[in-house]
Order: sequence, then structure tokens, then C-alpha cells
Amino acid sequence: MMRCLAGLVICTLLAAWVLSGVRADEPVVRDEAVLARQATMRSAKAALGVLFEMSALRRHFDRDTAREARAVLLAALAEIPARFEKPYMDRHSRSRPGIWENRAEFLRRAIAARQAARGVRTVNLPALRRSLPGMMAACLACHDRFREPR
Ligand code: HEC
Repeated sequence: MMRCLAGLVICTLLAAWVLSGVRADEPVVRDEAVLARQATMRSAKAALGVLFEMSALRRHFDRDTAREARAVLLAALAEIPARFEKPYMDRHSRSRPGIWENRAEFLRRAIAARQAARGVRTVNLPALRRSLPGMMAACLACHDRFREPR
């Protein structure tokens, strides 16, 4: 019962997050590497959004679409170590310096997120709904630690 409730609360919070828009960038000089890593993140968010909408019954469940979204998610998460290899920054980045100071921990969180993505089940809707919260939690775990709050 408690687990169920906690799951519901987490899902509600995550729903607001996943469905929220990405902020618009102002026309200022941007660092290419920062833009690239943010693009990787947005691709992860878009793929997760598809899966989330299916699991929230906002979109019809379709196994092929779900599988495709999972593949995009996995590919984006696989890019994280390379995208965050060097501490390039610009004023629109929300990366914390800890990424490069505690590289091992950052990489552990990236690996954990990939493992969570592998654990996402797209065979049917109940399996997707069961497996998605773990994925979302892995995204947030890294953001909590390594991304500046707004
Ligand atoms: C290993 C750490 C890590 C993991 C795992 C991770 N993120 Fe991120 N994410 C970051 C960091 C750091 C930033 C800030 C990047 C910057 O602005 O320099 C970020 C930024 C973002 C952004 C904002 C991009 C923009 O346009 O500014 C989105 C959206 C995002 N992440 C979604 C996700 C989703 C969805 C997942 C899980 C599927 C995820 N992230 C997993 C570390 C992570």
C-alpha cells in the first residue's frame, strides 16, 4: 500500500516534469559542446515523454512505437559520458562542476540510467507502467546531484 502510494506521488511529480516544456534559449553566444549535451538530454526527454504518455493513457499504447522510443532513450543515455567529457560551460548551462570533480560518481549515475533504460519493458502496457518509474527515478537522481536547480 505504502509503495503504491509513494509510486503514485512520484509519478504525479514526474508527470509534471516530463510534460513541461523545455525553456527557450535567448539569442546569445552558446558553447557548441554545451548545446550538444543539452540536445542529447532533450532527445532522452522526448523519448521518455512518448513512453510516459502511453503509460499515463494519454497516448495509445503501441509496441513498435514504444520499442523505438526505448531505443532512442538508450542511445541518448549511452552518449552521456562522451557529451560530458570536458568541463565546457556557458551561461545557460545548468551543469554543476561536480560532474568533473566527481567523475566516477557521475559515470556511475549515467550507467545506472542506462541500466534502468534496459529495464524498460515495451512488450505490453502493464509491463511498461511497471518499469517506467525506475527509469524516471534514475534521470532525477543524476539531476538532483549534478544539475543546478533553476
Ligand atoms: C548522469 C547524469 C544524468 C542523467 C542520467 C540524466 N541527466 Fe539530464 N541532465 C544532466 C545534466 C548535468 C544536465 C544539465 C546540462 C547543462 O545544462 O549543461 C541535464 C539536463 C537535462 C535537460 C535539459 C536540457 C536543456 O535543453 O537544457 C533535460 C530535458 C534532461 N536533462 C532530461 C533527462 C532525462 C529525461 C533523463 C533520463 C532519461 C536524463 N536527463 C538523465 C544530467 C543527467
